[in-house]
Amino acid sequence: MQNRRKTLTRLGALTAAGLGVAALALGATSAYADDNAPNDIEPKIIGGQPAEDGQFPYIVALADAGDPSFNFCGGQLVAEDVVLTAAHCTEGSAAADIVIRHGSTDITQTDIYDVTDIYVAEGFDGSTMVNDWSLIKLAEPISGAETVPLAESDTKDWGTLTVAGWGTTESGSSSEDLLYVDVPYITDTDCSGAYGSEFNADSMICAGDLENGGVDSCQGDSGGPLVSADGVLVGIVSWGYGCAEAGNPGVYANVGLLYDDITTKLADF
Ligand code: ARG
Repeated sequence: MQNRRKTLTRLGALTAAGLGVAALALGATSAYADDNAPNDIEPKIIGGQPAEDGQFPYIVALADAGDPSFNFCGGQLVAEDVVLTAAHCTEGSAAADIVIRHGSTDITQTDIYDVTDIYVAEGFDGSTMVNDWSLIKLAEPISGAETVPLAESDTKDWGTLTVAGWGTTESGSSSEDLLYVDVPYITDTDCSGAYGSEFNADSMICAGDLENGGVDSCQGDSGGPLVSADGVLVGIVSWGYGCAEAGNPGVYANVGLLYDDITTKLADF
C-alpha cells in the first residue's frame, strides 16, 4: 500500500511546527498541497453534495485572522459563544490568530467573529491525535444561533452518519459551498483492523465506506461535525490516511466518550 501517511496537516499544525508566518502566507492551496502531492491519487468532502440552508445551522469555519478568506478548519457552536473543534486545529495558535465564520453555506457570505480564548483538551497528543478536541470562546455571542446537541455516550451502533465541511473536494481544492456526505459508522473492531494501534478506541470513532472508499471528510474539514441521523454530534473530524480511500476510513474524535470531559470544561469556560 502506497502513501500510508497520516494526513494531519493544516494551518495550525504548520504554525505549531514553527513555520509561523511563512505558513500563513502560503494560503489554502499550499496547505493542502503538502498532503496531496501530485502522486497522491486521493479522491477527496469527497463524494458529497451542497448543503441546504439551515441543514447545519451550527456549523462554523475557523479562519486566519490575518486573512479571513483562508478557512482552514471546521467547528460547531455548542453555545452561542462557544465553538467545539479539533485540538489539532487550534494547538499553537493564540486567540488573536483565529476568527470564526458563521451564518451561510457560502463561505464568502459568512459573518466574521473575533475569538477571546482557546482551550486545547488535556491529554491531546498531536502525534497520536488522542483527545482531539478544543473549545473556542467568541468575543460576543451569536445571539439566537442554533447549537448542536452532543452525544452523551457511544452507542457503538450509529448506522449512517453525516459529515459536513468546506474542505478539500475531488478537485483537490477547498469548496466555497458547504458540502456534506453520508458515511457509514465503522465498528471499533473494523477500525482497529484498518489502522491497528493508531486507532485509539478510548477517544476515537471511525466512519466511511471501508470496502469501497469514495465518501469521506478531507483536509480542511477537520474540527467539523459528524452527526447522527437524529442530529446529534457523534464525532469531530480528526484524521485519516489520505481521503476516501478503500480500507482507510475517516477517524473522528469520539464525542460520546469525551462527553463528560467536554461538558465539564464547557461549564467553566
Ligand atoms: N486532518 C484533516 C484536517 O485537518 C482532516 C482529515 C480527515 N481525513 C479523512 N480521511 N477523513 O482537515
